[in-house]
Amino acid sequence: MAGAHVPDDSGRTGLHAIRGALLHFIDDPADAGERAYEYFDDGLLVVDGGHIVSAGEAPAALARLPAGTPVVDRTGKLIVPGFVDTHIHYPQTDMIAAYGEQLLEWLERYTYPAERQFADAAHGREVAEFFLDELLRGGTTTALVYATVHPESTDAFFAAAQARGARMIAGKVLMDRNCPEFLRDTAESGYADSKALIARWHGKARLSYAVTPRFAPASSERQLELAGRLLDEHPGVYLQTHVAENRSEVAWAAELFPWSRSYLDVYDRFGLVRPRSVYAHCIHLDDADRARMGAAGAAMAFCPTSNLFLGSGLFDRDAARRHGVRVGLGTDVGAGTSFSQLRSLDEAYKVAQLAGQRLSPLSAFHLATLGGARALYLDDRIGNFLPGKEADFVVIDPAATPLLARRMKHAPGLQDKLFALMMLADDRAIAETWLMGAKRHARAELPPACAC
Ligand code: GUN
Ligand code: ZN
Repeated sequence: MAGAHVPDDSGRTGLHAIRGALLHFIDDPADAGERAYEYFDDGLLVVDGGHIVSAGEAPAALARLPAGTPVVDRTGKLIVPGFVDTHIHYPQTDMIAAYGEQLLEWLERYTYPAERQFADAAHGREVAEFFLDELLRGGTTTALVYATVHPESTDAFFAAAQARGARMIAGKVLMDRNCPEFLRDTAESGYADSKALIARWHGKARLSYAVTPRFAPASSERQLELAGRLLDEHPGVYLQTHVAENRSEVAWAAELFPWSRSYLDVYDRFGLVRPRSVYAHCIHLDDADRARMGAAGAAMAFCPTSNLFLGSGLFDRDAARRHGVRVGLGTDVGAGTSFSQLRSLDEAYKVAQLAGQRLSPLSAFHLATLGGARALYLDDRIGNFLPGKEADFVVIDPAATPLLARRMKHAPGLQDKLFALMMLADDRAIAETWLMGAKRHARAELPPACAC
């Protein structure tokens, strides 16, 4: 019988197992209801070579394990697939929570000066290390990430992600107009730098490249055309950008591209609305835009903490669903106010309330895991515990704070517990984060209470 030996070390790649409550999604709860997920109160996650072997009831699975298989006991904890953040800016780590502005003024006053510092590669390396540790501390194992206009900032990010063994997607920002001189590339230099970065990083380890025009107002038509060419030349590469976040931004895009039917149409004209295109915000869209995104297989990144912080507006998740658009959750740090996807789910629920909609706890945890993986076309590799998937997962402590512990005593069912977690928990509840079956983050335990 396995289970006597309880190792606690990281870096393991052979056959091992983790025991605890397991929750993962096979499908979207809004479509499949109770069949959308599996939950094992006393579960066992079996991992080998960094990949999932099985997820099921512990007693039966333990009986089948070869004698001596190491089993890590996390009884009393909830184990879910790693969270997927579909929109975040690593260079904005140091200006998160900057006071007083809406989008366009916020960019000028806080964002561009912060991004300027990434001309210094050493600065990029230092911030990338902190940023990735902070993601893991919050339970995020995969993210779609903006660097800055400086190619070195992308190198710094990918090197740090590779060292941690994390599945990450990132790209150098393209911006050749309507921004400070010190952050400007040209259509041609942006194309050449992106191409070189794709050659260096795309498909290496667990890394993928995203062509990253910041937003249409900061790119010439030539730059957007060359972004489309990069996608045509490199199948499998992503596109990330912003669209329809703020009303002044939407009006500005209409002025700059007077021939366009809508802001999204600008991108569409240059072949940028396609599978693996991820559009952040998508607040001030119309149904023609949504229908186009759904038909094209493009995805929306719903960024609730950012949309509330910058006063941008309320994302219409039900409308996105009606048009069959893939939707993931994004923190959008530094306009977003937390690295924690649990904090984002809290705000996502409130955005839904303000819009007269519902975000059920099951839909919320799906959104943060398999939904995000599907938005990024990574659901064949991550997002749940089906056999063969990469073993990225989070161990959640449902009693991480006195209030959580107390509330859980009055949360009889799974959905009550999930809802309490999404409303009350944050990085303090992330006991551990594992990548490819190896522990990469463990919460520092609080010192024992002082007797003095
Ligand atoms: N639109 C263009 N750039 C940005 C950015 O850095 N953050 C957000 N939230 N919106 C943008
Ligand atoms: Zn953003």
